[in-house]
Amino acid sequence: MKITVFSGSHKGREGNTLIMVEEFLKGAEEAGAETENIFLIEKNIRYCRGKFECWLKTPGMCTIRDDMADLLPKFMASDIVVFACPVYFDNVPAIMKTFIDRLAPVLLPHFEKDEMGEYRHSKRYEKFPKIAVISNSGLPGQTNFEVESLFFKRLARTFHTELIAEIYRGEGEIFRGKSNIMLKPLLGKYRKVLRCAGRELVENQKLSEKITRELENPIIPASIYIKFGNEEWDRLCEEKKFD
Ligand SMILES: Cc1cc2nc3c(=O)[nH]c(=O)nc-3n(C[C@H](O)[C@H](O)[C@H](O)COP(=O)(O)O)c2cc1C
Repeated sequence: MKITVFSGSHKGREGNTLIMVEEFLKGAEEAGAETENIFLIEKNIRYCRGKFECWLKTPGMCTIRDDMADLLPKFMASDIVVFACPVYFDNVPAIMKTFIDRLAPVLLPHFEKDEMGEYRHSKRYEKFPKIAVISNSGLPGQTNFEVESLFFKRLARTFHTELIAEIYRGEGEIFRGKSNIMLKPLLGKYRKVLRCAGRELVENQKLSEKITRELENPIIPASIYIKFGNEEWDRLCEEKKFD
């Protein structure tokens, strides 16, 4: 089984998202998956020009010459694609949306009705990868992912596939405290759950209710996260004044 992660943190290898992805992939590899983590920010991905040339001029291929020529076949050759990114203003960051817009060549221009009675574009290929999401937000709480959750559900529908896992972590800035003596054991526990999630997804193609519940538990109470978070921002603002 091939799992490809398209990582959409604008901070790339420095991102909080990466900590989640790495642990999830360890579990997936333990269960026998072949994995690849692609950092979108390191790629040259230009905006979709919106001219439908991938449907009309060069069917199935974009006319823009950039790294999407390699990424599109990687997307289609995967059994599971993981979209991994932070929340930016309640939605996916720009790099992730730019990447997703450029996936249009895998569809056909023609319209069809789906099993729910809604309309969408027909598929160009028989088999599409299943989709999973890993995301983190700076604020605490699962409501920060409402827009992303709806977006990825509809994206799976658009790509004639299933959304098989949604892993959302509020309090995402907590990962910056990974060497803090108090946080280390709590983060260690969460990492273990992520690893189990990676294993489960490969073995069962879905996450159990138990793992889903554990993934959604706050790592620390929101009131404490907010208190320490604000103190940290005060400290950082003060530090910057003397730069
Ligand atoms: C431009 C911008 C917009 C953001 N918008 C939100 C938001 O709407 N809600 C939220 O909870 N966090 C928001 N955040 C915080 C990020 O989600 C958070 O810092 C996350 O941990 C970053 O992940 P990364 O290190 O992988 O990039 C925003 C951050 C930036 C830079």
